[in-house]
Amino acid sequence: MSKISGNIEQIDQWKSTMFLYNSALKSINTKIDILNSEFLQLYHTTPIEHVTSRLKSPQSIVKKLKKKNLEVNVDNMVEYINDIAGIRIICSFMSDIYPIADMIAKQADITVLYVKDYIKNPKANGYKSYHMIVTIPVYLSDRKIETKVEIQIRTIAMEFWASLEHKIAYKFEGHAPEHIESELKACADMVHMLDAKMYSLNHEIAEYSDVRTDNTEET
Ligand code: GTP
Ligand code: MG
Repeated sequence: MSKISGNIEQIDQWKSTMFLYNSALKSINTKIDILNSEFLQLYHTTPIEHVTSRLKSPQSIVKKLKKKNLEVNVDNMVEYINDIAGIRIICSFMSDIYPIADMIAKQADITVLYVKDYIKNPKANGYKSYHMIVTIPVYLSDRKIETKVEIQIRTIAMEFWASLEHKIAYKFEGHAPEHIESELKACADMVHMLDAKMYSLNHEIAEYSDVRTDNTEET
């Protein structure tokens, strides 16, 4: 095969592959939307604050393959990069994270490949988040293709911290001055305290409204 026809083949393969990841994102987004609406109907509240999704840029895909010392081609990207399609679910309370993860994992057509639980085991820098790599089938006209999606679940407070940390890591290319790193770690501890406090307050409020409802029902 000539170099040019090889390149054209790669471009076609790239386009159809990105189409798959985009379709997988749509499917998971719809699932999450349905779960959220069901919750709203049943309990008049929802565990999910908001959801964002993105496809990894070609530049980031190439950078990641090179970092892993892999040849840059579509087969390697499908095999070795798990976050080409990414979804982030932001919830209000820590207590929402595992139930959301459970609801997703229980969906019949979703397969959980692996989980990285940085809630139970935060990273040394203070990063907290729950990560799942799943596959979801994308149904084409003549076959279905299991497609990988990275799902990150975290609280608003964890998201606030992670976005600043990401900005700092990017700016200093991963080597921020020590005092910034230690202040970031201190912020992560504050985030944890805030999440714990918000959780217990919310819990207390929920119990209070239960009592009130009970009383109302009695009269
Ligand atoms: P990557 O190759 O960086 O994607 O990581 P990985 O394959 O080791 O998986 P991991 O679950 O550790 O990280 C997946 C994603 O979580 C990353 O691409 C980031 O979006 C996010 N992440 C992981 N660690 C950090 C961190 O320390 N800070 C921030 N801001 N985000 C992080
Ligand atoms: Mg990533």
